[in-house]
Amino acid sequence: MARADQLKALLRAYATEEDEQFLSVALQVAAGEAQRGHTKVAAEMHALIERARTRHKGPRPTSRPALLAQPRGELADLLTVQYPQRHLSHLVISPEVELRLTRVLKEQREHVRLSGHGLHPRRKLLLVGPPGTGKTLTAGVLAAELRLPLFIARFDSLITKFMGESASKLRLVFEALKTTRGVYLFDEFDSLGLQRGSQHDVAEMRRTLNMFLQLIEQDESDSLIVAATNHGDALDTALFRRFDDVIRYDIPSDPQIELLLRNSLSLMASPDLDLASIVPEARGLPHSDIVRACTDAMKDAVLEENRVLRTSDVVCHLRERSGSQKGR
Ligand SMILES: Nc1ncnc2c1ncn2[C@@H]1O[C@H](COP(=O)(O)OP(=O)(O)O)[C@@H](O)[C@H]1O
Ligand SMILES: [Mg+2]
Repeated sequence: MARADQLKALLRAYATEEDEQFLSVALQVAAGEAQRGHTKVAAEMHALIERARTRHKGPRPTSRPALLAQPRGELADLLTVQYPQRHLSHLVISPEVELRLTRVLKEQREHVRLSGHGLHPRRKLLLVGPPGTGKTLTAGVLAAELRLPLFIARFDSLITKFMGESASKLRLVFEALKTTRGVYLFDEFDSLGLQRGSQHDVAEMRRTLNMFLQLIEQDESDSLIVAATNHGDALDTALFRRFDDVIRYDIPSDPQIELLLRNSLSLMASPDLDLASIVPEARGLPHSDIVRACTDAMKDAVLEENRVLRTSDVVCHLRERSGSQKGR
């Protein structure tokens, strides 16, 4: 039987019409059955999935060409793959960030034309900004927009106690960049295990980080490299030169807050909702907190006998989040 979390993932994919996500969860369920020895059920499920897939082949905008890129062997421990579905319109960002992201997308989409003139599209990006402002989300959006798989580096398995070992694993990841085009996300790369261990470990970590930056610099693949960090100010500016673009994220402005509220509450929007009076309550909070406060408010409304969503529900959850921000 499918696990509850798999069922939830299926329902979520169904609700948002993410066909490929739906089918890829279904494949996971089938694989689980096969592992438990239920080979007949697994085969039946595979056949059904294939049928569903052929039904969807056609010019559906959400269908993904490079679907089955899956890291194998040792790489499977080092990279996880996702096929994100959220597009640029999901991001609430400043015009400046939007300009930079659309420029990346444009250059990537036109890479053939560019290379005809010996030019290369931007593809090494450093995203800098406070937590919860959309850096990780951006990597997914770039993948979705370019219809590429999103590979996420798993630092927990990449970084070992032994420099030599970490280095060879890192090299393996950069080999993958060459063989499978995709968006490769190195999330919070600068905080790599710094919290753990002794002085000695810290020195090792620094060396590994330097090696990582060198590999980025040397890389000449067609893949996109997205490195994200919450601590831009602490970074050496020499590091910025290794990237084609450094994109800075920030907590949302008032108009951005309003847009975020509008998007997040759209499922339960009612004419009584007074967005203008909610905006000041969200000032200073990152996007992620605002989105969560909206979700929590909607849950309250649903659980209390499906009543309409009230302005005070949202305000109340935003205050709760501002309170815990100050306590941090
Ligand atoms: N700029 C944004 N626009 C829309 N939603 C956002 C934005 N930033 C964050 N979110 C919401 O918060 C969640 C977490 O954001 P995330 O991308 O992980 O932030 P970061 O990587 O900067 O810490 C996202 O999945 C999304 O729901
Ligand atoms: Mg992040």
